[in-house]
Amino acid sequence: MSEDKIIDGKAFAAGLRGRVAEKVAALKAAKGVTPGLAVVLVGEDPASQVYVRNKAKQTVECGMESFEHRLSPETSQEELLALVETLNADARVHGILVQLPLPKQIDANAVINAITPAKDVDGFHVVNAGRLMTGAGKPMVPCTPLGCLMLLKDRLGDLSGKNAVVVGRSNIVGKPMAQLLLDANATVTIAHSRTADLPGVCRQADILVAAVGRPEMVKGDWVKPGATVIDVGINRIETPEGKGKLVGDVAFEEAVQVAGAITPVPGGVGPMTIACLLANCATAAYRAAGLEDPEL
Ligand code: GUN
Repeated sequence: MSEDKIIDGKAFAAGLRGRVAEKVAALKAAKGVTPGLAVVLVGEDPASQVYVRNKAKQTVECGMESFEHRLSPETSQEELLALVETLNADARVHGILVQLPLPKQIDANAVINAITPAKDVDGFHVVNAGRLMTGAGKPMVPCTPLGCLMLLKDRLGDLSGKNAVVVGRSNIVGKPMAQLLLDANATVTIAHSRTADLPGVCRQADILVAAVGRPEMVKGDWVKPGATVIDVGINRIETPEGKGKLVGDVAFEEAVQVAGAITPVPGGVGPMTIACLLANCATAAYRAAGLEDPEL
């Protein structure tokens, strides 16, 4: 296996964070504005606590201001909506992220759609989803698919005419990923758990994006020789020795033998998500200051 088959998302994300930090410094110098990111965590989900801590640390490292709001697991929908309204009205806050999943007494869609679209750095608001889908107006693009697209363009250059298969149809990854690939002139198939002959469909792909949340579901013989494989999955499994281990949605050891290029787990797509969140927050602050989007 040659090392250059591995798409190093960790290194790319570090470079992107460096570029974000430069744009943040330039905005401060030009307009006296410091981009601010508010992260809201409801409850005590351990994985979410880790994400939120990492987000806050990297936000500050990029020169942006971080506002953290930790609410009890019993928080009502009204209380959370009231906090979102406060953040919408706060000029120091350019990006708002409400960490998902939310406790079951809260309607996640109602909360997401209460965020001002210009501050919706997750790109989950219906207005941003609609802008992405139609090309009408500038959307905030969801962070994980945006990160995948950056890695693909970095590796492959022009994506025109390539056959892309996205496995998974979530609003957070699968659907926006398909739209971004379509906008880049790829020929796109969205496959999912009910797709007939899923392995055969995947074998058609020059670009295969796996975003299903099932450990090592995509096998080596589902991959077309030379294809570029992007693994969005982050699944914690137990090894036969009883230890915890992170694996993707792709059976890496098999797939790497066949693929032309592949993202590892960890160290592939994962680090790109937070880096793209910071990029979106910088973009939101530039827009709020009446400037063109920064080139990142
Ligand atoms: N939970 C896990 N990943 C994400 C994300 O990218 N955004 C939000 N809001 N919640 C998450």
